[in-house]
Amino acid sequence: MSHGNDSSPSQNEGLICDSDSGRTHLRPDWHHNALRLALALVLILQMKVLFAAPAVIRPGAVWLDDKGVEIQAHGGGVILWHGTYWWFGENRGKSLSPDKRYVTCYSSQDLVHWKYHGQVVALTDPDHIGPQWVLERPKVFPNGRTGKFVMYAHLDDGDYRLAKVAVLVSDRIDGQYHYVRSFRPLNKESRDIGQFIDDDGSAYLVFESRPTESFIIGKLSDDYLNVETLMSILHCQLEGDAVVHYKGLYYAMGSHLSGWDPNPDLYATSPSLSGPWSEFKDVAPPETKTYGSQSAMLLKVTGSKGSTVIFMGDFWNPSALWDSRYLWMPLEIGDGKLRLPAPHDWTIDMATGESALTK
Ligand code: GAL
Repeated sequence: MSHGNDSSPSQNEGLICDSDSGRTHLRPDWHHNALRLALALVLILQMKVLFAAPAVIRPGAVWLDDKGVEIQAHGGGVILWHGTYWWFGENRGKSLSPDKRYVTCYSSQDLVHWKYHGQVVALTDPDHIGPQWVLERPKVFPNGRTGKFVMYAHLDDGDYRLAKVAVLVSDRIDGQYHYVRSFRPLNKESRDIGQFIDDDGSAYLVFESRPTESFIIGKLSDDYLNVETLMSILHCQLEGDAVVHYKGLYYAMGSHLSGWDPNPDLYATSPSLSGPWSEFKDVAPPETKTYGSQSAMLLKVTGSKGSTVIFMGDFWNPSALWDSRYLWMPLEIGDGKLRLPAPHDWTIDMATGESALTK
């Protein structure tokens, strides 16, 4: 049994009293132990970071940003810029001014955790269109030549008869985008738009056009302020248009025209953006109506071991648009075939470019 005044260690004896200064110190061996413990803790934390299960993307779930607020980026577009992913989309929030149309911006390193950068567009009817005016499907193109960020969006009246694009420009990716002008790209009616940036950096606007009943791909001018060159007219009337370049083939995808209601999305392929395009095929069993979603974009994420192509779609909720959710899923793609798997939680390894469904 130990007593207060014997020399064997006790719980309080890690401290030594210096008789000269009267100060109390940690005994050297206890000092080492404390250091070891701290090092072990740091190691455990590092291992946790290294071996942490990758974050999960959950189709249809409420998706919160870094502020804990539901992400408002519907009909959106995601771009990779200087190693960071940026997501722009329609803000359909409940408490917004009914006169304005809003675009929200988020950034992420892993496509799961998104940092809110605010409203990059809060625009009042720019062309005296009328109270029901529409600004939808915003897409941002960073222009390396001019240093500007150029946003395209579908601009329309309440009856969707205007059929134009709006162009807005910002000096910063997450700065305010200022309205420049509106026009019909290549002098054609344009409703839903999509964006495509090829592996060589060239930028294209994809748009649904009537009355030609087409899915049109147009190349942007050098300053991105215009749609200059007609690449392809795909004679299939599809909206929610998206294009991706994967292993030497271009894949074009879109939905039929049924407003907010889902329908079976289709895709076609071509060795070149100017065609010839294959016939259109279903991306999923047609009876699932694209699992209740509508395409917005195809995003290719490339890492050390390959690429994942992500179907980014919207689950629209027309009676509560603010609560529309997202269907993001890795596609089964290659050799001219493409399949959207049934919604399931999944993960992506941003370093290798590989994705997997969770168990
Ligand atoms: C959809 C379109 C949406 C929105 C909606 C309005 O066809 O993809 O972006 O315009 O119609 O009804």
